[in-house]
Amino acid sequence: TAPRTAVAFVPSAPLASPGPNATGPVHFPAEFRWGSATAAYQVEGAAAEGGRGESIWDVFCRVPGAVHNGDDGAVACDHYHRYQEDVALMRDLNLDTYRFSTSWARVMPDGRTVNPAGLDFYSRLVDELLGAGVAPWLTLYHWDLPQALEDAGGWPSRETAYRFADYAAAMHDALGDRVDVWTTLNEPWCSAFLGYTGGEHAPGRQSPVDGVAAAHHLLLGHGLALDALRSRAPEATLGITLNFTVADPADPADPADLEAARKEDGIFNRMFVEPIMRGVYPPDIVEDIAHLGFADHICEGDLDLISAPIDVLGVNYYNGGAVAGTPEQNLEDGFGRPDGVREETAEPVRQTRSPNPLPDIHPRSRGLPRTDMGWEVQPEGLTRLLTRLQRDYTGPRGTALVVTENGAAYPDVVGPDGQIEDTDRLHYIDQHLRAVKDAMDAGADVRGYLVWSLMDNFEWALGYSKRFGVVRVDYETQQRTVKASGSWYAQVAASGTVPG
Ligand code: NOJ
Repeated sequence: TAPRTAVAFVPSAPLASPGPNATGPVHFPAEFRWGSATAAYQVEGAAAEGGRGESIWDVFCRVPGAVHNGDDGAVACDHYHRYQEDVALMRDLNLDTYRFSTSWARVMPDGRTVNPAGLDFYSRLVDELLGAGVAPWLTLYHWDLPQALEDAGGWPSRETAYRFADYAAAMHDALGDRVDVWTTLNEPWCSAFLGYTGGEHAPGRQSPVDGVAAAHHLLLGHGLALDALRSRAPEATLGITLNFTVADPADPADPADLEAARKEDGIFNRMFVEPIMRGVYPPDIVEDIAHLGFADHICEGDLDLISAPIDVLGVNYYNGGAVAGTPEQNLEDGFGRPDGVREETAEPVRQTRSPNPLPDIHPRSRGLPRTDMGWEVQPEGLTRLLTRLQRDYTGPRGTALVVTENGAAYPDVVGPDGQIEDTDRLHYIDQHLRAVKDAMDAGADVRGYLVWSLMDNFEWALGYSKRFGVVRVDYETQQRTVKASGSWYAQVAASGTVPG
């Protein structure tokens, strides 16, 4: 059972770079999983087919200025019709695991009533994967709440957590005979705070009060769904995927910067990992958000559900960040972006606010290289993160770690021969795999790596402008082309070795 004591935040210093596995061939264990990830709304398309209902993303995409270029997921990668080709691609890339999400509104158009045609799509997808020797890794919620449930209150409403558990049960009843690995939620920080506080994601609300309510009800939904799944399949591999940052104080000697790092780490990391792995919310953050009515939402027994044992903690890592307590004097972060523009690129969309319900956290550039998202490339952060998770959270309970997302957007160029020499992305993945191995050598029980993403797709508020795939998608023709990073990754997956 969960230890029931919170771990206080102690900032760590960036590791000496390069790490021990920075050069030469790096070998991973034979059982290590190699895979890729996508999410329903980002790839499926077929938004009005098979009786699918609307999700909050269908509605949000129609809000003027909400999504870059007015893009939406109506067609996306047309994966709904091309899943066989896409599964064949995974096999060609030697991948043994595919992490995908199911669309709640496809399966339950009103959020409550099962639509057999919707279930049938996932049943066919799972069969196709199994036939190709690719293990399905199913995520139940990757941000696309049925609009009907948003209309009934959305995640700030406790009821939504119970509806989520019913959906989990229905999915398991349909697919549990063939799917062994189940993830409840993907990145609940994003659902709660980008969706209900910052407003840059669906449903676009801008309320710190709603954000903290949503955070608890998402976690409760995780707990209730876990209970439903566990009672149906005691042997299944169950877990949740969280997004983590590594919050460094810009100046470790400045108390205001230390305080900013504590809050950033608290609301982003500890707010989610503490209740799941240790059965408590971080006391410092509970105090910080007390005025938002956070504690009113917590009922007796909630934390027991939320902290029930999981088998795997999914780790999504892209970057960390240095934060300060005060804005920079020139109000720019060194990359020409105004202070306060957070990790996402400064693509002007509609007016949003900070997703963070806590004040006085300002990003500081460290001059590290950046991806097309404007995110710093910081592989050693992944080593620090995994070793910390092992030490404070997963290790004490014997829970495995899997990197369920890591990857990078870059402005790919298609060469005259039609090939994509994305050495920047290849290098990013190479460096992060080495960082994973550094963590494993230091004792972190990491069992796999799933690259984000199999193919270019709908990058939420940034539409199709950002490409994360190791496979290119030509959205005019829906043609898929394996990029240089994809061919390289296929070799890594086949050999279990990052070449020197
Ligand atoms: C995390 C999310 O889970 C995924 O949907 C998104 O596309 C990537 N990060 C890249 O931003």
